[in-house]
Amino acid sequence: MAYERKEISIDSIRRQEDICRDIYEKFVADKARPLAMVDTYGCQQNEADSEKLRGYLAEMGYAFTQDEFEADVIVVNTCAVREHAEMRVLGNVGQLNHSKKQRPGQIIAVCGCMVQQEHMTEKIKKSYPVVDLVFGPHELWRFPELLLKTMTGHKRVFAAEKCDGYVAEGMPLKRDSSVKAWLSIMYGCNNFCTYCVVPYVRGRERSRRPEDIVAEARQLVESGCKDITLLGQNVNSYGKDLGSDVDFADLIRMINDIPGEFLIRFMTSHPKDATEKLFKTMAECEKCAHQLHLPVQSGNDRVLKAMNRSYTAEKYLEQVRLARKYMPDIVLTTDIIVGFPGETDEEFEDTIRLCDEVRYDAMFTFIYSKRVGTPAASMPDAATREDKQRRFDKLLEAANRVSAEKHAEYIGKTVRVLVDGETGKAEYNLSSRTNGGRLVHLSGDKSLIGKFIDVKITSGNTWALYGKVEEE
Ligand code: 5AD
Ligand code: SF4
Repeated sequence: MAYERKEISIDSIRRQEDICRDIYEKFVADKARPLAMVDTYGCQQNEADSEKLRGYLAEMGYAFTQDEFEADVIVVNTCAVREHAEMRVLGNVGQLNHSKKQRPGQIIAVCGCMVQQEHMTEKIKKSYPVVDLVFGPHELWRFPELLLKTMTGHKRVFAAEKCDGYVAEGMPLKRDSSVKAWLSIMYGCNNFCTYCVVPYVRGRERSRRPEDIVAEARQLVESGCKDITLLGQNVNSYGKDLGSDVDFADLIRMINDIPGEFLIRFMTSHPKDATEKLFKTMAECEKCAHQLHLPVQSGNDRVLKAMNRSYTAEKYLEQVRLARKYMPDIVLTTDIIVGFPGETDEEFEDTIRLCDEVRYDAMFTFIYSKRVGTPAASMPDAATREDKQRRFDKLLEAANRVSAEKHAEYIGKTVRVLVDGETGKAEYNLSSRTNGGRLVHLSGDKSLIGKFIDVKITSGNTWALYGKVEEE
Protein backbone atom coordinates (compact mmCIF):
# COMPACT_ATOMS: atom_id res chain seq x y z
CA MET A 1 0.00 0.00 0.00
CA ALA A 2 1.78 3.11 -1.25
CA TYR A 3 1.50 6.06 1.04
CA GLU A 4 3.02 9.37 0.21
CA ARG A 5 3.92 11.43 3.25
CA LYS A 6 2.06 14.74 3.23
CA GLU A 7 2.91 17.76 5.32
CA ILE A 8 0.76 20.80 5.94
CA SER A 9 2.89 23.84 5.12
CA ILE A 10 3.73 26.25 7.88
CA ASP A 11 2.04 28.98 5.75
CA SER A 12 -1.22 27.04 5.92
CA ILE A 13 -0.98 26.94 9.71
CA ARG A 14 -0.17 30.67 9.79
CA ARG A 15 -3.33 31.29 7.73
CA GLN A 16 -5.33 29.43 10.37
CA GLU A 17 -3.72 31.61 13.02
CA ASP A 18 -4.66 34.72 10.99
CA ILE A 19 -8.27 33.53 11.19
CA CYS A 20 -7.85 33.14 14.96
CA ARG A 21 -6.59 36.73 15.14
CA ASP A 22 -9.57 38.06 13.10
CA ILE A 23 -11.99 36.27 15.42
CA TYR A 24 -10.08 37.60 18.45
CA GLU A 25 -10.27 41.18 17.17
CA LYS A 26 -13.99 40.88 16.55
CA PHE A 27 -14.50 39.67 20.14
CA VAL A 28 -12.42 42.59 21.45
CA ALA A 29 -14.41 45.11 19.35
CA ASP A 30 -17.69 43.60 20.63
CA LYS A 31 -16.31 43.55 24.20
CA ALA A 32 -17.26 39.86 24.24
CA ARG A 33 -15.76 37.43 26.76
CA PRO A 34 -16.36 34.15 24.99
CA LEU A 35 -16.09 30.77 26.72
CA ALA A 36 -15.32 27.36 25.25
CA MET A 37 -15.61 23.82 26.55
CA VAL A 38 -13.56 20.92 25.16
CA ASP A 39 -14.74 17.48 26.22
CA THR A 40 -12.33 14.61 25.49
CA TYR A 41 -13.00 10.86 25.21
CA GLY A 42 -10.53 8.03 24.61
CA CYS A 43 -6.79 7.78 24.51
CA GLN A 44 -3.84 10.09 25.23
CA GLN A 45 -3.56 10.95 21.56
CA ASN A 46 -7.01 12.50 21.86
CA GLU A 47 -5.92 14.38 24.98
CA ALA A 48 -3.00 15.73 22.95
CA ASP A 49 -5.34 16.71 20.09
CA SER A 50 -7.60 18.53 22.55
CA GLU A 51 -4.60 20.57 23.69
CA LYS A 52 -4.26 21.73 20.08
CA LEU A 53 -7.96 22.60 19.89
CA ARG A 54 -7.58 24.61 23.10
CA GLY A 55 -4.46 26.25 21.66
CA TYR A 56 -6.43 27.53 18.66
CA LEU A 57 -9.42 28.52 20.83
CA ALA A 58 -7.15 30.47 23.20
CA GLU A 59 -5.71 32.35 20.20
CA MET A 60 -9.28 33.26 19.22
CA GLY A 61 -9.73 34.77 22.67
CA TYR A 62 -11.76 32.01 24.31
CA ALA A 63 -11.39 31.29 28.02
CA PHE A 64 -12.38 27.81 29.19
CA THR A 65 -15.24 26.37 31.21
CA GLN A 66 -16.45 22.89 32.20
CA ASP A 67 -20.07 24.03 32.30
CA GLU A 68 -22.00 23.48 29.06
CA PHE A 69 -24.59 26.09 30.09
CA GLU A 70 -21.89 28.77 30.08
CA ALA A 71 -20.06 27.81 26.90
CA ASP A 72 -20.36 29.64 23.58
CA VAL A 73 -18.55 26.83 21.80
CA ILE A 74 -18.55 23.15 22.80
CA VAL A 75 -16.13 20.74 21.13
CA VAL A 76 -16.62 17.02 21.79
CA ASN A 77 -13.48 15.10 20.83
CA THR A 78 -14.58 11.50 20.34
CA CYS A 79 -13.20 7.95 20.38
CA ALA A 80 -14.19 4.99 18.16
CA VAL A 81 -12.22 2.13 19.70
CA ARG A 82 -15.22 0.57 21.46
CA GLU A 83 -18.97 0.88 21.09
CA HIS A 84 -19.37 1.86 24.73
CA ALA A 85 -17.42 5.13 24.22
CA GLU A 86 -19.50 5.95 21.13
CA MET A 87 -22.75 5.39 23.04
CA ARG A 88 -21.58 7.69 25.80
CA VAL A 89 -20.67 10.40 23.29
CA LEU A 90 -24.02 10.17 21.52
CA GLY A 91 -25.91 10.22 24.84
CA ASN A 92 -24.01 13.29 26.02
CA VAL A 93 -24.29 15.11 22.69
CA GLY A 94 -28.06 14.50 22.75
CA GLN A 95 -28.17 16.13 26.19
CA LEU A 96 -26.64 19.31 24.79
CA ASN A 97 -30.13 20.18 23.52
CA HIS A 98 -30.74 21.70 26.95
CA SER A 99 -27.77 24.07 26.97
CA LYS A 100 -28.41 25.08 23.36
CA LYS A 101 -32.02 25.97 24.18
CA GLN A 102 -30.75 28.34 26.88
CA ARG A 103 -28.01 29.79 24.64
CA PRO A 104 -29.40 29.82 21.09
CA GLY A 105 -26.09 30.99 19.54
CA GLN A 106 -24.16 28.12 21.09
CA ILE A 107 -22.01 26.20 18.59
CA ILE A 108 -21.68 22.46 19.09
CA ALA A 109 -18.82 20.68 17.31
CA VAL A 110 -18.08 16.95 17.27
CA CYS A 111 -14.64 15.83 16.11
CA GLY A 112 -12.20 12.93 16.42
CA CYS A 113 -12.18 9.26 15.47
CA MET A 114 -15.90 8.50 15.81
CA VAL A 115 -16.89 10.96 13.09
CA GLN A 116 -14.21 9.71 10.69
CA GLN A 117 -16.59 6.76 10.19
CA GLU A 118 -19.14 7.50 7.49
CA HIS A 119 -22.02 5.74 9.23
CA MET A 120 -21.50 7.90 12.32
CA THR A 121 -21.40 11.16 10.38
CA GLU A 122 -24.64 10.12 8.68
CA LYS A 123 -26.20 9.34 12.04
CA ILE A 124 -25.28 12.78 13.37
CA LYS A 125 -26.54 14.45 10.19
CA LYS A 126 -29.91 12.73 10.51
CA SER A 127 -30.53 12.32 14.22
CA TYR A 128 -28.52 15.02 16.02
CA PRO A 129 -29.57 18.39 14.58
CA VAL A 130 -28.10 20.02 17.68
CA VAL A 131 -24.61 19.49 16.16
CA ASP A 132 -23.39 22.40 13.98
CA LEU A 133 -19.92 21.24 13.01
CA VAL A 134 -18.41 17.80 12.42
CA PHE A 135 -14.75 17.28 11.55
CA GLY A 136 -12.47 14.25 11.47
CA PRO A 137 -8.94 13.92 12.92
CA HIS A 138 -7.37 14.88 9.58
CA GLU A 139 -9.09 18.28 9.59
CA LEU A 140 -7.96 19.34 13.05
CA TRP A 141 -5.20 21.60 11.69
CA ARG A 142 -7.90 23.74 9.98
CA PHE A 143 -10.30 23.95 12.91
CA PRO A 144 -10.27 27.83 12.92
CA GLU A 145 -11.41 27.94 9.28
CA LEU A 146 -14.15 25.38 9.94
CA LEU A 147 -15.34 27.17 13.06
CA LEU A 148 -15.46 30.52 11.25
CA LYS A 149 -17.46 28.92 8.44
CA THR A 150 -19.92 27.55 11.00
CA MET A 151 -20.21 30.93 12.76
CA THR A 152 -20.85 32.91 9.59
CA GLY A 153 -22.44 30.44 7.17
CA HIS A 154 -25.70 29.77 9.03
CA LYS A 155 -25.63 26.14 8.00
CA ARG A 156 -24.15 22.94 9.37
CA VAL A 157 -20.58 22.10 8.35
CA PHE A 158 -19.37 18.53 7.78
CA ALA A 159 -15.68 17.87 7.07
CA ALA A 160 -14.51 14.27 7.39
CA GLU A 161 -13.17 13.22 3.99
CA LYS A 162 -11.44 9.86 3.55
CA CYS A 163 -7.73 10.51 4.05
CA ASP A 164 -4.42 8.80 4.84
CA GLY A 165 -3.39 11.70 7.05
CA TYR A 166 -0.92 14.54 7.28
CA VAL A 167 1.80 15.84 9.54
CA ALA A 168 1.22 19.42 10.66
CA GLU A 169 3.85 21.34 12.62
CA GLY A 170 3.55 24.68 14.37
CA MET A 171 -0.02 24.49 15.70
CA PRO A 172 -0.53 26.38 18.96
CA LEU A 173 -0.93 24.21 22.04
CA LYS A 174 -2.54 24.85 25.39
CA ARG A 175 -1.32 22.17 27.76
CA ASP A 176 -3.26 20.99 30.81
CA SER A 177 -0.32 20.70 33.16
CA SER A 178 3.03 22.45 33.46
CA VAL A 179 4.59 19.42 35.18
CA LYS A 180 3.59 16.66 32.72
CA ALA A 181 3.19 16.76 28.95
CA TRP A 182 2.06 14.57 26.08
CA LEU A 183 4.35 14.80 23.07
CA SER A 184 3.09 13.16 19.88
CA ILE A 185 5.96 11.69 17.90
CA MET A 186 3.90 9.97 15.21
CA TYR A 187 0.34 9.55 14.03
CA GLY A 188 -1.74 6.75 12.54
CA CYS A 189 -1.25 2.99 12.46
CA ASN A 190 -0.32 0.44 9.77
CA ASN A 191 -0.88 -2.71 11.79
CA PHE A 192 -4.50 -3.48 11.00
CA CYS A 193 -5.16 -5.72 13.97
CA THR A 194 -8.39 -7.37 12.84
CA TYR A 195 -10.52 -6.01 15.71
CA CYS A 196 -9.31 -2.42 15.56
CA VAL A 197 -10.80 0.62 13.86
CA VAL A 198 -7.80 2.92 14.47
CA PRO A 199 -5.98 2.34 11.15
CA TYR A 200 -9.19 3.23 9.30
CA VAL A 201 -9.85 6.47 11.16
CA ARG A 202 -6.35 7.71 12.02
CA GLY A 203 -4.70 6.93 8.68
CA ARG A 204 -1.24 5.63 7.83
CA GLU A 205 1.78 5.77 10.11
CA ARG A 206 3.64 9.03 9.79
CA SER A 207 6.44 10.27 11.99
CA ARG A 208 7.33 13.81 12.96
CA ARG A 209 10.90 14.79 12.17
CA PRO A 210 13.37 14.12 15.01
CA GLU A 211 14.51 17.76 15.07
CA ASP A 212 10.90 18.99 15.54
CA ILE A 213 10.34 16.51 18.38
CA VAL A 214 13.60 17.33 20.14
CA ALA A 215 12.94 21.08 19.81
CA GLU A 216 9.51 20.64 21.41
CA ALA A 217 10.96 18.47 24.20
CA ARG A 218 13.69 21.05 24.85
CA GLN A 219 11.10 23.82 25.05
CA LEU A 220 9.05 21.76 27.50
CA VAL A 221 12.04 21.10 29.75
CA GLU A 222 13.05 24.78 29.63
CA SER A 223 9.55 25.78 30.70
CA GLY A 224 9.76 23.48 33.75
CA CYS A 225 8.10 20.29 32.51
CA LYS A 226 9.40 17.22 34.39
CA ASP A 227 7.59 14.32 32.80
CA ILE A 228 7.29 13.88 29.03
CA THR A 229 5.25 11.03 27.53
CA LEU A 230 6.06 10.33 23.89
CA LEU A 231 2.91 9.26 22.06
CA GLY A 232 2.21 7.08 19.06
CA GLN A 233 -0.02 4.07 18.29
CA ASN A 234 3.15 2.06 17.76
CA VAL A 235 6.24 4.01 18.79
CA ASN A 236 8.53 1.12 17.87
CA SER A 237 8.01 1.80 14.19
CA TYR A 238 8.95 5.46 14.65
CA GLY A 239 10.96 6.86 11.73
CA LYS A 240 10.33 4.03 9.25
CA ASP A 241 8.28 6.30 6.98
CA LEU A 242 10.85 9.11 7.13
CA GLY A 243 13.55 7.06 5.46
CA SER A 244 15.96 8.50 8.04
CA ASP A 245 18.28 6.39 10.16
CA VAL A 246 16.86 7.68 13.46
CA ASP A 247 14.78 4.93 15.05
CA PHE A 248 12.79 5.12 18.29
CA ALA A 249 15.72 4.12 20.52
CA ASP A 250 17.85 6.85 18.89
CA LEU A 251 15.08 9.36 19.50
CA ILE A 252 15.00 8.46 23.22
CA ARG A 253 18.74 9.01 23.39
CA MET A 254 18.43 12.42 21.69
CA ILE A 255 15.79 13.52 24.20
CA ASN A 256 17.78 12.06 27.08
CA ASP A 257 20.68 14.34 26.05
CA ILE A 258 18.62 17.49 26.73
CA PRO A 259 20.04 19.00 29.93
CA GLY A 260 17.76 19.07 33.00
CA GLU A 261 16.02 16.77 35.49
CA PHE A 262 13.02 15.13 33.84
CA LEU A 263 11.53 11.74 32.92
CA ILE A 264 10.85 10.26 29.49
CA ARG A 265 7.91 7.87 29.18
CA PHE A 266 6.25 6.52 26.05
CA MET A 267 3.27 4.59 24.76
CA THR A 268 2.28 2.40 23.01
CA SER A 269 4.79 -0.31 22.06
CA HIS A 270 3.77 -3.11 19.74
CA PRO A 271 5.40 -6.40 20.87
CA LYS A 272 6.07 -7.45 17.27
CA ASP A 273 8.84 -4.90 16.91
CA ALA A 274 10.11 -3.98 20.34
CA THR A 275 13.87 -4.54 20.05
CA GLU A 276 16.76 -5.42 22.31
CA LYS A 277 18.24 -2.06 21.27
CA LEU A 278 15.18 -0.34 22.77
CA PHE A 279 15.50 -2.12 26.14
CA LYS A 280 19.24 -1.47 26.24
CA THR A 281 18.69 2.20 25.45
CA MET A 282 15.99 2.48 28.12
CA ALA A 283 18.39 0.97 30.66
CA GLU A 284 21.26 3.25 29.64
CA CYS A 285 19.35 6.54 29.45
CA GLU A 286 19.06 7.79 33.02
CA LYS A 287 16.02 9.96 32.21
CA CYS A 288 14.03 7.14 30.61
CA ALA A 289 11.44 5.72 33.00
CA HIS A 290 11.57 1.97 33.58
CA GLN A 291 8.01 1.58 32.44
CA LEU A 292 6.71 -0.40 29.50
CA HIS A 293 3.14 -0.64 28.27
CA LEU A 294 3.27 -3.75 26.07
CA PRO A 295 -0.24 -4.79 24.99
CA VAL A 296 -0.45 -8.58 24.60
CA GLN A 297 -4.21 -8.72 23.79
CA SER A 298 -4.35 -12.53 24.21
CA GLY A 299 -2.17 -15.36 25.51
CA ASN A 300 -3.33 -17.86 22.88
CA ASP A 301 -1.47 -18.32 19.59
CA ARG A 302 -4.53 -19.10 17.46
CA VAL A 303 -6.32 -16.00 18.75
CA LEU A 304 -3.19 -13.85 18.30
CA LYS A 305 -2.98 -15.03 14.69
CA ALA A 306 -6.66 -14.29 14.08
CA MET A 307 -6.05 -10.84 15.59
CA ASN A 308 -3.15 -10.32 13.13
CA ARG A 309 -0.76 -9.50 15.97
CA SER A 310 2.32 -11.12 14.30
CA TYR A 311 3.79 -12.72 17.45
CA THR A 312 3.22 -15.81 19.55
CA ALA A 313 2.74 -15.97 23.31
CA GLU A 314 6.24 -17.42 23.63
CA LYS A 315 7.80 -14.62 21.56
CA TYR A 316 6.00 -12.11 23.77
CA LEU A 317 7.29 -13.78 26.94
CA GLU A 318 10.83 -13.70 25.53
CA GLN A 319 10.50 -9.94 25.14
CA VAL A 320 9.32 -9.59 28.72
CA ARG A 321 12.32 -11.62 29.91
CA LEU A 322 14.65 -9.47 27.82
CA ALA A 323 13.17 -6.23 29.13
CA ARG A 324 13.55 -7.54 32.70
CA LYS A 325 17.11 -8.64 32.04
CA TYR A 326 18.05 -5.04 31.18
CA MET A 327 15.73 -3.45 33.78
CA PRO A 328 14.91 -5.80 36.68
CA ASP A 329 12.75 -3.05 38.24
CA ILE A 330 10.67 -2.42 35.09
CA VAL A 331 6.96 -1.68 35.61
CA LEU A 332 4.99 -3.67 33.02
CA THR A 333 1.42 -2.98 31.96
CA THR A 334 -0.73 -4.41 29.17
CA ASP A 335 -4.04 -4.34 27.30
CA ILE A 336 -6.14 -7.49 26.93
CA ILE A 337 -9.23 -8.19 24.87
CA VAL A 338 -11.58 -10.84 26.22
CA GLY A 339 -14.08 -12.58 23.98
CA PHE A 340 -12.48 -12.00 20.58
CA PRO A 341 -14.69 -13.80 17.99
CA GLY A 342 -14.14 -17.54 18.23
CA GLU A 343 -12.18 -17.44 21.52
CA THR A 344 -12.99 -20.56 23.55
CA ASP A 345 -12.80 -21.01 27.32
CA GLU A 346 -9.61 -23.07 26.87
CA GLU A 347 -8.03 -20.35 24.73
CA PHE A 348 -8.96 -17.77 27.32
CA GLU A 349 -7.23 -19.87 29.99
CA ASP A 350 -3.97 -19.36 28.03
CA THR A 351 -4.40 -15.63 28.62
CA ILE A 352 -4.78 -16.22 32.35
CA ARG A 353 -1.65 -18.41 32.31
CA LEU A 354 0.36 -15.77 30.47
CA CYS A 355 -0.73 -13.10 32.96
CA ASP A 356 0.20 -15.39 35.87
CA GLU A 357 3.63 -15.78 34.36
CA VAL A 358 4.26 -12.09 33.59
CA ARG A 359 2.63 -10.68 36.73
CA TYR A 360 1.75 -7.26 35.33
CA ASP A 361 1.79 -4.21 37.57
CA ALA A 362 -1.49 -3.18 35.97
CA MET A 363 -3.74 -4.46 33.20
CA PHE A 364 -6.31 -2.70 31.03
CA THR A 365 -8.94 -5.28 30.18
CA PHE A 366 -11.72 -4.95 27.60
CA ILE A 367 -14.55 -7.09 26.32
CA TYR A 368 -14.33 -7.33 22.52
CA SER A 369 -16.45 -4.72 20.78
CA LYS A 370 -17.51 -5.25 17.17
CA ARG A 371 -16.30 -2.39 14.91
CA VAL A 372 -17.92 -1.70 11.53
CA GLY A 373 -15.61 -2.42 8.58
CA THR A 374 -12.99 -4.44 10.48
CA PRO A 375 -12.23 -8.07 9.50
CA ALA A 376 -13.16 -9.41 12.97
CA ALA A 377 -16.69 -8.01 12.59
CA SER A 378 -17.51 -10.81 10.15
CA MET A 379 -15.81 -13.66 12.04
CA PRO A 380 -18.11 -16.27 13.58
CA ASP A 381 -18.61 -15.78 17.30
CA ALA A 382 -20.31 -18.56 19.27
CA ALA A 383 -19.63 -17.27 22.79
CA THR A 384 -22.49 -15.50 24.55
CA ARG A 385 -22.29 -12.17 26.33
CA GLU A 386 -22.49 -14.12 29.62
CA ASP A 387 -19.52 -16.33 28.63
CA LYS A 388 -17.49 -13.21 27.88
CA GLN A 389 -18.52 -11.44 31.06
CA ARG A 390 -17.54 -14.49 33.09
CA ARG A 391 -14.09 -14.59 31.47
CA PHE A 392 -13.71 -10.86 31.93
CA ASP A 393 -14.58 -11.05 35.65
CA LYS A 394 -12.08 -13.85 36.15
CA LEU A 395 -9.31 -11.90 34.41
CA LEU A 396 -10.10 -8.71 36.30
CA GLU A 397 -10.02 -10.56 39.60
CA ALA A 398 -6.60 -12.01 38.73
CA ALA A 399 -5.33 -8.61 37.54
CA ASN A 400 -6.46 -6.83 40.69
CA ARG A 401 -4.97 -9.48 42.94
CA VAL A 402 -1.53 -9.24 41.28
CA SER A 403 -1.61 -5.40 41.27
CA ALA A 404 -2.37 -5.41 45.01
CA GLU A 405 0.43 -7.93 45.66
CA LYS A 406 2.87 -5.87 43.62
CA HIS A 407 1.87 -2.73 45.49
CA ALA A 408 2.30 -4.52 48.84
CA GLU A 409 5.95 -5.16 47.91
CA TYR A 410 6.55 -1.38 48.00
CA ILE A 411 5.47 -1.01 51.64
CA GLY A 412 8.33 0.10 53.88
CA LYS A 413 10.53 1.07 50.92
CA THR A 414 11.72 4.57 50.07
CA VAL A 415 11.05 5.54 46.44
CA ARG A 416 11.71 8.65 44.39
CA VAL A 417 8.53 10.23 43.02
CA LEU A 418 7.55 13.27 40.99
CA VAL A 419 4.78 15.25 42.69
CA ASP A 420 2.39 16.14 39.87
CA GLY A 421 -0.75 17.67 41.33
CA GLU A 422 -3.42 17.95 44.00
CA THR A 423 -6.04 15.29 44.70
CA GLY A 424 -8.66 17.68 46.09
CA LYS A 425 -8.85 15.58 49.29
CA ALA A 426 -8.03 16.84 52.80
CA GLU A 427 -5.87 13.87 53.73
CA TYR A 428 -3.38 12.71 51.07
CA ASN A 429 -3.78 16.02 49.26
CA LEU A 430 -0.99 15.44 46.71
CA SER A 431 -0.58 12.94 43.91
CA SER A 432 2.73 11.73 42.58
CA ARG A 433 4.19 9.04 40.33
CA THR A 434 7.11 6.69 40.78
CA ASN A 435 9.70 6.39 38.02
CA GLY A 436 7.70 3.35 36.82
CA GLY A 437 4.50 5.40 36.74
CA ARG A 438 2.72 3.98 39.82
CA LEU A 439 0.40 6.43 41.57
CA VAL A 440 1.41 7.51 45.10
CA HIS A 441 -0.83 9.67 47.31
CA LEU A 442 0.93 11.94 49.82
CA SER A 443 0.25 14.59 52.42
CA GLY A 444 2.34 17.72 52.04
CA ASP A 445 2.59 21.32 51.00
CA LYS A 446 1.58 22.11 47.44
CA SER A 447 4.93 23.84 46.89
CA LEU A 448 6.18 20.26 46.34
CA ILE A 449 4.32 20.07 43.00
CA GLY A 450 6.83 19.74 40.17
CA LYS A 451 9.57 18.37 42.46
CA PHE A 452 11.23 14.97 42.65
CA ILE A 453 11.24 13.83 46.28
CA ASP A 454 11.86 10.70 48.35
CA VAL A 455 8.81 9.07 49.85
CA LYS A 456 8.42 6.17 52.25
CA ILE A 457 5.56 3.91 51.17
CA THR A 458 3.24 3.18 54.09
CA SER A 459 0.36 1.30 52.44
CA GLY A 460 -1.12 0.31 49.12
CA ASN A 461 -4.13 -1.27 47.42
CA THR A 462 -4.90 -2.44 43.88
CA TRP A 463 -4.98 1.03 42.39
CA ALA A 464 -2.56 3.19 44.36
CA LEU A 465 0.19 3.52 46.92
CA TYR A 466 0.21 5.82 49.94
CA GLY A 467 3.38 7.41 51.28
CA LYS A 468 5.03 9.80 53.67
CA VAL A 469 7.47 12.50 52.61
CA GLU A 470 10.98 11.70 53.87
CA GLU A 471 12.67 14.56 55.68
CA GLU A 472 15.72 15.97 53.85
N1 5AD B 1 -12.81 -4.14 21.22
C1 5AD B 1 -12.26 -4.14 22.46
N2 5AD B 1 -11.09 -3.58 22.74
C2 5AD B 1 -10.40 -3.00 21.72
N3 5AD B 1 -9.21 -2.39 21.69
C3 5AD B 1 -8.96 -1.97 20.43
N4 5AD B 1 -10.00 -2.31 19.64
C4 5AD B 1 -10.90 -2.97 20.41
C5 5AD B 1 -12.15 -3.58 20.17
N5 5AD B 1 -12.70 -3.60 18.95
C6 5AD B 1 -8.34 -2.28 22.87
C7 5AD B 1 -6.98 -2.94 22.63
C8 5AD B 1 -6.05 -1.76 22.50
C9 5AD B 1 -6.71 -0.76 23.40
C10 5AD B 1 -6.30 0.64 23.17
O1 5AD B 1 -8.08 -0.92 23.14
O2 5AD B 1 -6.66 -3.72 23.77
O3 5AD B 1 -4.73 -2.07 22.89
FE1 SF4 C 1 -5.22 -0.80 16.73
FE2 SF4 C 1 -3.38 -2.74 16.48
FE3 SF4 C 1 -2.86 -0.25 15.53
FE4 SF4 C 1 -2.97 -0.68 18.19
S1 SF4 C 1 -1.47 -1.58 16.76
S2 SF4 C 1 -3.96 1.02 17.05
S3 SF4 C 1 -4.58 -2.25 18.36
S4 SF4 C 1 -4.45 -1.66 14.78
